Amino acid sequence: METATLNPPTPEAKTSCCGPDCCAETSTAAVQEGPATAKSEAEALVATVREHYAEIAKTGATCCGGGGCAVAPDPEDVARGLGYAPADLAALPADANLGLGCGAPIAHLALQAGETVLDLGSGPGLDALLAARLVGPSGHVIGVDMTPAMLARARANAAAAGQHQVEFRQGRLEQLPVVDSSVDAVTSNCVINLVPDKTAVFREIARVLRPGGRLVISDIVLDGTLPPSVMGAVEAYVGCIAGASRRQDYLDMLAAVGLGQVEILREIDYAQTMLEVAPTEIAGLLAGSGLAPKDVLGIVKSVTIRAVKPS
Ligand SMILES: C[S@@+](CC[C@H](N)C(=O)[O-])C[C@H]1O[C@@H](n2cnc3c(N)ncnc32)[C@H](O)[C@@H]1O
Repeated sequence: METATLNPPTPEAKTSCCGPDCCAETSTAAVQEGPATAKSEAEALVATVREHYAEIAKTGATCCGGGGCAVAPDPEDVARGLGYAPADLAALPADANLGLGCGAPIAHLALQAGETVLDLGSGPGLDALLAARLVGPSGHVIGVDMTPAMLARARANAAAAGQHQVEFRQGRLEQLPVVDSSVDAVTSNCVINLVPDKTAVFREIARVLRPGGRLVISDIVLDGTLPPSVMGAVEAYVGCIAGASRRQDYLDMLAAVGLGQVEILREIDYAQTMLEVAPTEIAGLLAGSGLAPKDVLGIVKSVTIRAVKPS
């Protein structure tokens, strides 16, 4: 089948190729055979995303793309390529970085000591732990993720880092386990593209932010149209590409829930960046889907967006 992912495999993938839980064929069947209603099709996609990231959390194996289990890039190289400061990466447990982000949003959040921060789709905890260092012991960081194995990894990383002002809650971004108007700042890194009902996520962000609170997220948006083979591939969906919205649609959704002062702080050509970080691996993944770099370059962008909840 045709698949593609630009979330590169992690080093462990070299030796743990395609167990029964992670093969794309299994996931495709789950989606294709699901009930016909849009809601249950969306839930089938969410279940596929959860299955994919559970596998990554447990084994690091992201080897189901069309390129198979080629030599994998170092997550630290990926994070540096996306803008993380080497000193920040060195200060955290290595297990907190699986190279799953598409930006470095915490650097743009201007966090102050004592603030409350919410990280949506916290994964192994990289951004939540960086935020915890900035808000300090008087602050509070809440990471939310739907995947139990990711939460377990994040909690172990918080314990290893000795950061007690961070907690990780299991929940869905579309229905956050967070009280109204209780958060100073929301962040998220390469997650909302994975959620079929993005408007629900933005509505929840507007609900939990305090008046005057801000949002800084990094996410994938599309500037143009991807080949049909990519848009139809489950691996491209779980790899943060096929579920991405067009740039203007994304910005419109933020404005529609009442968030203001929406601005793009930074943007990078995500495909180009990944090709620079890991040229052989990414070119191999694309080739496995019958694609050349020119098919995705200039279309798959990572944007870091800021918005504010009106006072
Ligand atoms: C691409 S990873 C990014 C992880 C993290 N932000 C990072 O940069 O390392 C996506 C994460 O979002 C979580 N996720 C995806 N969709 C979700 C949803 N609808 N509700 C809650 N978590 C979700 C997955 O479980 C996974 O841990």
